[in-house]
Amino acid sequence: MPKPGADMDPAQFRAAAHRVADLLADYLEGVERYPVLPKIQPGAVRAQLPAQAPAQGESIDAILDDYQALIEPNVTHWNHPGFLAYFAITGSGPGILGEALAAGLNVNAMLWRTSPAAVELEETVCDWLRGLLELPASFKGHINDTASISTLVALAAARHRADPAVREKGLAGRGDLQALRVYCSDQAHSSVDKAAIALGFGVENVVRVKSDADFRMDANALGKAIAADRAAGRRPIAVVATAGTTVTTSVDPLRAAAELCAREKLWLHVDAAYAGSAAICPEFRKLLDGLEAADSIVVNPHKWLFTPVDCSVLLAREPGALRAAFALVPEYLKTSEAATNLMDYGVQLGRRFRALKLWMVLRHFGAEGLRERIREHVRLAGLFKAWIEADARFECAAPVPFSTVCFRAVPKGKPEAQDAFNEKLVNEVNAAGPVFLSSTKLRGRTILRLAVGNLRTEERHVRRAFDLLCEAYARLA
Ligand SMILES: Cc1ncc(COP(=O)(O)O)c(C=O)c1O
Repeated sequence: MPKPGADMDPAQFRAAAHRVADLLADYLEGVERYPVLPKIQPGAVRAQLPAQAPAQGESIDAILDDYQALIEPNVTHWNHPGFLAYFAITGSGPGILGEALAAGLNVNAMLWRTSPAAVELEETVCDWLRGLLELPASFKGHINDTASISTLVALAAARHRADPAVREKGLAGRGDLQALRVYCSDQAHSSVDKAAIALGFGVENVVRVKSDADFRMDANALGKAIAADRAAGRRPIAVVATAGTTVTTSVDPLRAAAELCAREKLWLHVDAAYAGSAAICPEFRKLLDGLEAADSIVVNPHKWLFTPVDCSVLLAREPGALRAAFALVPEYLKTSEAATNLMDYGVQLGRRFRALKLWMVLRHFGAEGLRERIREHVRLAGLFKAWIEADARFECAAPVPFSTVCFRAVPKGKPEAQDAFNEKLVNEVNAAGPVFLSSTKLRGRTILRLAVGNLRTEERHVRRAFDLLCEAYARLA
């Protein structure tokens, strides 16, 4: 039993850390024994947890026993190779170890002084990623928790560039301020709307520009929307183009958007949360032509670079623009060193040491190792697409530029009946256990998605998904 009020002693810590290492190794090795989605009802976990915190300390072994019995089996297994829903992710070995080391150091990298190595490693890994993406050296980066926050920070910088007075005066009650408008496609992620809520633009001022037959933002429609807003006395400030949209992974025409933004003096933010990872391969970087002309870019290594959640890199062509929007140094945080203070580049003061896990991932795999995995994922998605196309019971619902396939079953019947059939189909497949697919609406119709992104996903998992779809189709038809 622990001494009241004392941390674990070194011997206890060492023994427990070894047990945790074993738990993790066993979990990763045997994750396929679990269904991807735990077969439990809402409330099932809480019902097994005490309503109150323990009054007396408990042994770490008892806590780890409960972890093993209650927690591990009842999570959704994002680290399962059959996880093919949303965007599949990976907590890879080096990434997990990086998280553990960061927790041990427990530094708070708000100022250079509060952890020189954490700040300089963050600068370094962001530079490495910038190099892998073939972006000019002027781009500098920092790491946020999520793409949602990276996009919010980028749009705050855009707002500051458009009207620096907002920092002091805010937006409300100002007769001199027109509505501030942000443009993105009808396929862009909802995080753009959330940023508009938080930054005071309002969701109504996020202009959803229509996308073309391949779900890419229509650059002509974008130009017209901007012109119409100017004519109506509104103030365009930024365009958010997406490289790898959430549903179909389409890539907006970045070069055309960049040229328009340069002419119109608008901030161009590129949401490359998903496809930015693929762009470390030259053949996929080509699909993101014009990326280098963005003002800011978000890439999530926690999506497709095998780094555990959370890790979102925000790269800015003029990092000074982020500083101008956010730098605010209270007296107690003033320092004299000529160094980067990462708290100046966003909302938060305290910052986790996320760079450590990304550094370990980039070094463990090397650029070539990462490229090899990404190419394999794209190959697997291509195989699945070919099986869908070769089977008259199914059809693809969108092009497949990367590792995500949008498809649907097409039984005879009206569109509404087909939609209902697809919902039932995906529920049947997911209830089986070995794989997890997601469903959504695309232009009003239900579609299913298979996204390859977990490091451990092999051809047999993708084949299993297809076989389960065929079996469920036969049962339901
Ligand atoms: C294109 C795109 N952007 C942004 C996000 C939001 O990501 P995060 O969870 O890191 O905020 C997502 C989520 O899947 C996404 O698909």
